[in-house]
Amino acid sequence: MTEKYTVAIIGCGRLGQHYAEVYQTLPNTEVIAIAEYNPERRKAVGERFGISALYQDAEALFRHQSPDIAAVVLPGKFIKEAVIAAAQAGVKGVSTDKPIEARLSDVDAMVEECEERGVLFAGGNLQRAMGEVQEAARWLRAGDYGPLRGASVHNWGGEISGGGCQHIAVLRLFTHAEITEVIAWGHPQEALESAEDTGLVINGQFQLSNGLSCPVFGSASDRKGVAVWSDDALISWDWDPPTIFQGFDDKGARIAVDRPYTPLEYPRFSYLGTSILSFLDVLENGGELYVSGHDLRQSLEAAIAAKYSALWGSVPLKLPLQDRSLTLYPRPYRWLGGDHDDRVQTVEEALEGQLFPRTS
Ligand SMILES: NC(=O)c1ccc[n+]([C@@H]2O[C@H](COP(=O)([O-])OP(=O)(O)OC[C@H]3O[C@@H](n4cnc5c(N)ncnc54)[C@H](O)[C@@H]3O)[C@@H](O)[C@H]2O)c1
Repeated sequence: MTEKYTVAIIGCGRLGQHYAEVYQTLPNTEVIAIAEYNPERRKAVGERFGISALYQDAEALFRHQSPDIAAVVLPGKFIKEAVIAAAQAGVKGVSTDKPIEARLSDVDAMVEECEERGVLFAGGNLQRAMGEVQEAARWLRAGDYGPLRGASVHNWGGEISGGGCQHIAVLRLFTHAEITEVIAWGHPQEALESAEDTGLVINGQFQLSNGLSCPVFGSASDRKGVAVWSDDALISWDWDPPTIFQGFDDKGARIAVDRPYTPLEYPRFSYLGTSILSFLDVLENGGELYVSGHDLRQSLEAAIAAKYSALWGSVPLKLPLQDRSLTLYPRPYRWLGGDHDDRVQTVEEALEGQLFPRTS
């Protein structure tokens, strides 16, 4: 490839600034424009990243710019409009982040708009994109540990669509399966009846398309993430590179094995970096994204199914859900952004690239 992909960042708050850093580091991408609603922050990030093409929102940006890639890094409420605007403006690829919107029909509209226009629709900063998570999944898929016998989800509580979408994305990757049915129990009642996922703890069971039944534990037990197992191995993801156990000692306990992961191409990159590298690779060569818009949708759909299964008396709900008008809102920070919560990023912090307020 000789030319660089041009990139527009839509929403340049804390996470959007991370995206800009990664795209400015890579040799084959160039950030050419930023849309940012907050005028002081817009000026600050323009200065920090050396970008003069600055706009209030996606609509204004696409009136003047034709980037190859749009990175939509907005609070949930604003994602749909920007993703659809990007697809209609003729980008080659658009990415967004989690948790994606709140209403299934809104996510369907984004996925469909991108599909119809041949626009690659990627997800973003999810643990599923971590190099080691992807490599462990490749080992599983290659049969290195034998056929899977089970899977479990742990600590899927507190915010099942917000942070909880990480679990679903890794579960589907490790099992190479879709969730086909959900049955759930939820508490406290107040959280279950709320439109938001804040504080809702879900226990239940997912039925998977490969025939496995996956217990779901809402609270922290000895694990917090996702485990899958075969006859003699167990692979556990818990917000770090997956831990692998294979075989049993003379007491019958599992033995942790130290199988080395391939070093990263860009060692300083977190999983946002590997997610973006996968997006660029698929744009260039085709293939399977580490995280797709579809993956974000499946995470939301599992969370919505669990909430309504629990609310309606632990009824088993088949996926895909028939009623696409069902919703589940994340907490205000994720839905409306830091400026509408108590986590405003100051101009100084935006200039310095500081993610969260200093603790004194
Ligand atoms: N995947 C992850 O690990 C992860 C981490 C942090 C945040 N997030 C998600 O990413 C989203 C953004 O998070 P953040 O921490 O960057 O929030 P933030 O509030 O710091 O940034 C959002 C930015 O978008 C701007 N904005 C809002 N509406 C806009 C619009 N219509 N057009 C242009 N700009 C607009 C705001 O002014 C703000 O600067 C949230 O939904 C959050 O849940 C994901």
